[in-house]
Amino acid sequence: MHRRLIVPSVLAASFLLAIPASAATYSPGAPGIGDPYYPASGNGGYDVSHYDLRLKYQPKTDLLEGTATILATTKQDLSRFNLDFGLKVSEIRVNGKKAAFTTSGTQELEITPAAALPKGSAVTVVVRYAGKPSELEINGFTAWHRTPDGGVAAQEPDSAVWWFPSNDHPLDKATYDVSVQVPNGTQAISNGVLQGTRPVGSDWTRYSWRSNKPQASYLATLAVGKFDITTDKTATGLPVLNAYSKDLGDNAGAARASIERTGEVAEWLEEVFGPYPFNALGGYVPNVPSGYALETQTRPFYSPRQFANGSNVSVVVHELAHQWYGDSVSVDGWKDIWVNEGFARYSQWLWSEREGEGTAQELADYVYASHPADDEFWTVKPGDPGPENQFHLAVYDRGALALQALRNEIGDESFFKILKGWPSEHAYGNAKVGDFVKYAERVSGKPLAALFDTWLYQAAKPGSPAARSAEV
Ligand code: ARG
Ligand code: ZN
Repeated sequence: MHRRLIVPSVLAASFLLAIPASAATYSPGAPGIGDPYYPASGNGGYDVSHYDLRLKYQPKTDLLEGTATILATTKQDLSRFNLDFGLKVSEIRVNGKKAAFTTSGTQELEITPAAALPKGSAVTVVVRYAGKPSELEINGFTAWHRTPDGGVAAQEPDSAVWWFPSNDHPLDKATYDVSVQVPNGTQAISNGVLQGTRPVGSDWTRYSWRSNKPQASYLATLAVGKFDITTDKTATGLPVLNAYSKDLGDNAGAARASIERTGEVAEWLEEVFGPYPFNALGGYVPNVPSGYALETQTRPFYSPRQFANGSNVSVVVHELAHQWYGDSVSVDGWKDIWVNEGFARYSQWLWSEREGEGTAQELADYVYASHPADDEFWTVKPGDPGPENQFHLAVYDRGALALQALRNEIGDESFFKILKGWPSEHAYGNAKVGDFVKYAERVSGKPLAALFDTWLYQAAKPGSPAARSAEV
C-alpha cells in the first residue's frame, strides 16, 4: 500500500542526487597517485579498503581468470576513475551496475560508472578478467615468473598489474582475501593465514588466504606450483607456514635450514623492533631462476639462488626486518626507499653482531673501506636515489652506514630506542625519510640534519663513521 507513495519519492531523491553528477565538481580521478618516480603508479580520487580476489589458475597454459571485488571510498566527486591493471577485462560493475571501461595504456584501466560517485561514498567495483600474465610486458618487462609447475608474482615496486586490478601504490594499503583454484596436486601460496582448502569438482582445489592488516599492493603475492608445506606456531602462538618448491634441487636443504628459523629470527627482531606487526609468518621458495628476495607481507619470497652457497639466515633476517620497516611502516613515495632498505640491511649487521660473526661497526668499516672515494657507489644518494637506482647497493650499504653513523653520534641507548619506537610511531602507515630524521632528533634530543645530509643526500664519500670508542 505504501509502496506507491514511496516509489515516486525515491525517484525524486535519485533525481536530485543525479543533478550534481553533471555539475563541475565532478571530475575524473587522476591516473597516477602523484609519485614522481612512477607517475603511472596508483590513482587519484579514491581509497581502497579491501581486495577480494577469487581466481583460477591453470599451470599448463598460464591462464589466470577470475573476479576481483574491490571495496573503496571516494575522496572527491568522481565522474570516472582508474585502476592499474594489464590483463584482459570482460566486465566491470560499479555498485552493481555495468560500467564502461577502456584500457588507455598498458597498465591503466579507465572506468566510467553508470552514475557519478559523490565524495565520501562507499564504492564496490567488480572486475571480471582472464589472461596469461607471462604474455603481459610493460616497457619490455614482466613481473610474472613462469616456473615449470606454475607461476609467481613477487616484484618491487610493481607486480599487482600482472595479476589483479588495484590502486598500485603503497599509499593505498588494504586488507586482502585471495582465493585461488588450482589443479589437484598443485598449491596456491599467498599472504597471511590459510583459511582453508576445499575441493572444487574432482580435479581442482581452492586455497583461501586472508591478510587482515593493511598491505601495500606490491607486497601481495601469489605463487602457484608444487610445494612442500611445513607448518608450526611461534612461541606467542602465531601460525608459521613455509612452502618449498618440490623442485629446488641441491638448494633444498639450505633453503629449509634457513627459512625454518623464521620464528626464532622474528622473536629476536621483536626485541629490537617491538611486537611483530602481523598475525602470520613464513616464507616460500618457488623454483624461479631469479636471484633476489622480497618482503611479501607475512610471507617473504626467496629465490632458490639465495641458498646456493648454503644456509643464509641473513636474508631471512633482512626480509623479516622489512615486516616492520617497509610493510607495516611503508614508504610514502618510492624515493623514500631508504626507510626500507637501510634498516633491513642494518638489521643483518645486528644479527651478525649477535651471532658473533662481526659487529655492526666492523661490517660498517669493511663496507666503507671497500668503496674508494671515486667509486660510483658514492654518487648514489640513498635519500633520493632516482628510480633507476632504487635498488642500488648504495641504498642498502651506504644506507646502513648512515645508521651506524647515527648510532655513533647519539649512542646505543637513544639509537635502539629509535629503532623500536619508529615502527610503533607509524604502524600500518607511511613515512618519509624526513619524518625519520625529525623522529631521531626528537628522541635523541640532538640536531641530526647535517649528519643525515652527509650520509643520505651528498654524492660524495663522507668521512668514516668511526666508533666513538675508537676516537677516545
Ligand atoms: N626489497 C627487496 C629486498 O631488498 C628488493 C627487491 C628488488 N627487486 C629486484 N628485482 N632486484 O629484499
Ligand atoms: Zn630489502
